[in-house]
Amino acid sequence: MVNTPRKKLAILISGRGSNMEAILNSTRQAYYPAEICLVISDNKDAAGLDTARNANIKASAFQRCDYETRLEHEAAIMNAINSACADIVCLAGYMRILSADFTKTYEGKLINIHPSLLPKYKGLETHQRAIDAGDKEHGCTVHFVNSEMDGGEIIAQAKVPILKTDTADTLSARVLVEEHKLYSKVIADLAKF
Ligand code: GRF
Repeated sequence: MVNTPRKKLAILISGRGSNMEAILNSTRQAYYPAEICLVISDNKDAAGLDTARNANIKASAFQRCDYETRLEHEAAIMNAINSACADIVCLAGYMRILSADFTKTYEGKLINIHPSLLPKYKGLETHQRAIDAGDKEHGCTVHFVNSEMDGGEIIAQAKVPILKTDTADTLSARVLVEEHKLYSKVIADLAKF
């Protein structure tokens, strides 16, 4: 059997990093076709940076306030991604809108997870908006990233029912369980090519 090298993932986070941690756990399986080469955060206090460092993964903060322009900030991040030879760039709770230049550079290998059944509820407060709308189901989407916020081609979705008793917190907790499974699965599928 030919041993194909595992694809390298750069993961961009801004905070908690639970999706990053779920991906990290998947990469510990012997046959998972990808590994994390780099974690980047725009927030030096992001908890996910410590999670990555504790797993001996290179984790760097690039704070917007340390750069004069958005262009310079993104250039530094792109430089780090390219130096790490990442094959796939995963946004996992990265709370910054990327420029068209950035999204174009990684077109076809830049993906994001969003906590709604896109195209419904782009942006923030997705769980409360789904409850307020009286929706029967909600969920999460992994999609390619283009210059339109939460607007790129949808790769896969996972659904959960909305219960009568749900608050934004209970619903988001159930969606998050699905996010963790879905993101690892989509990455594995992409990494096989
Ligand atoms: C997740 O709900 C993700 O879908 C959204 O931001 C949240 C990040 O959570 N884009 P975490 O940092 O992965 O725990």
